[in-house]
Amino acid sequence: WQGSVGALVLGYLLGSIPFGLLLTRFTGAGDLRQIGSGNIGATNVLRTGRKGLAAATLLLDMLKGAAAVLLAEWLLPGTAMLAGLAAFIGHCYPIWLRFRGGKGVATMMGVVVALHWPSGLVYAAVWLGLLAGLRISSVAGMMAAISAPVSAAAFGRIGLVLVFLALALIVVWKHRENIDRLLNGTEPRVGKKKHG
Ligand code: G3P
Repeated sequence: WQGSVGALVLGYLLGSIPFGLLLTRFTGAGDLRQIGSGNIGATNVLRTGRKGLAAATLLLDMLKGAAAVLLAEWLLPGTAMLAGLAAFIGHCYPIWLRFRGGKGVATMMGVVVALHWPSGLVYAAVWLGLLAGLRISSVAGMMAAISAPVSAAAFGRIGLVLVFLALALIVVWKHRENIDRLLNGTEPRVGKKKHG
């Protein structure tokens, strides 16, 4: 059980690093909490007008999820899933931000890729495909998250289905304000300045 505790702590600590908030703060791009949706993710970083920072946030938020899984599997074999789950929880509910973290789409992608890359490929395809087609980040992200348990089931990885399902449900829960905006037609599209 010490390995499990170690994986939880390692995953949570990595996942709870709020890269979007740190990058924007330390480059003077503004206070993400006061911009757009107030979220700490790459989509909201993009609303500062700094594309490079948004790309870096996306990459780092993905990498921390993948790193948690791979590091745990290397240091504490058999704990990869637990570490991935903890990293995702760390991103969505970081103690450093009084548990007000991100919405989990990028970090979940990193976790899914590291745990089962074929599901990760599907995730990326759904995410990018819908983002390119609809230009609504929340819809693309939620659908990508939901694709993960479906993919894991289709690939016969039943052990992963429950883990991915839990993450996907949290992703949808974290998007409840976006869902409200989608329902009343005020969810902004990526690439437009205005925010509903
Ligand atoms: O991953 C977050 C994205 O799906 C929505 O972000 O800032 O539009 O609420 P935002």
